[in-house]
Amino acid sequence: MLYKIAHILRDKLSWLWDIIEWFNGVIFNLRYGKKIRGFSFKTIPDGYEIAPINKIPTSDLVTFFNNQPEDAFMYFRPHGFDTKSIRLLQRNKAFLGYVLKDKKKGTIAGYCFNRCFSHGQGFRGRMVDVDYRGKGLGTAMNKILNEVGFGIGLRLFESVSKDNVASYRSALSASNVKVVKELPHNELYLEILPD
Ligand SMILES: CC(C)(COP(=O)(O)OP(=O)(O)OC[C@H]1O[C@@H](n2cnc3c(N)ncnc32)[C@H](O)[C@@H]1OP(=O)(O)O)[C@@H](O)C(=O)NCCC(=O)NCCS
Repeated sequence: MLYKIAHILRDKLSWLWDIIEWFNGVIFNLRYGKKIRGFSFKTIPDGYEIAPINKIPTSDLVTFFNNQPEDAFMYFRPHGFDTKSIRLLQRNKAFLGYVLKDKKKGTIAGYCFNRCFSHGQGFRGRMVDVDYRGKGLGTAMNKILNEVGFGIGLRLFESVSKDNVASYRSALSASNVKVVKELPHNELYLEILPD
């Protein structure tokens, strides 16, 4: 239900969505800010480092999205990818976004996030750079999102299309999941369960 309302607001009433997001960020920070500041990742894939998106130049993130092929966005439309939208996310305390950077090359290999709500739920999403796909980074980022999400005490969810095989399989490989609901267009609404 919450997921459905969020999508309607985001797509049809974006000004109202922006206000709600800002307010949610303030409350979320009051409730979880201290836990997030005390959190550090343990499971980082070899050869990569994790950085929160607010430590990355906005232009690098925009370039990352611009570099992805059109089909990468077929099942991945969680937010805008322009400079203004990315800046808003970087400032949003309830949007726990991270990049995986290739240590050698210094480039962004993957992007992932828990979009969090102040009543204690987070919604996962991720994208792996087209040149880094099939190396296990999608699965690794799911684990990273679980680590931080469960680490601060959230319940985690995501929607995944059964047609998006890599996404579906990486969701299953990284986590125990419960199908909460079958959605239209072959999508599943999953709750991610702690190990
Ligand atoms: C979904 C996505 C994040 C997966 O990332 P990835 O790093 O390539 O995936 P992994 O290497 O971790 O592989 C995960 C699983 O999918 C399988 N897989 C990977 N690519 C595949 C492909 N093209 N076709 C079929 N299976 C594939 C792997 O074998 C693995 O399965 P296993 O765990 O059963 O062995 C990546 O394809 C992507 O960024 N897609 C575009 C954005 C998107 O759709 N995001 C998800 C929606 S939120």
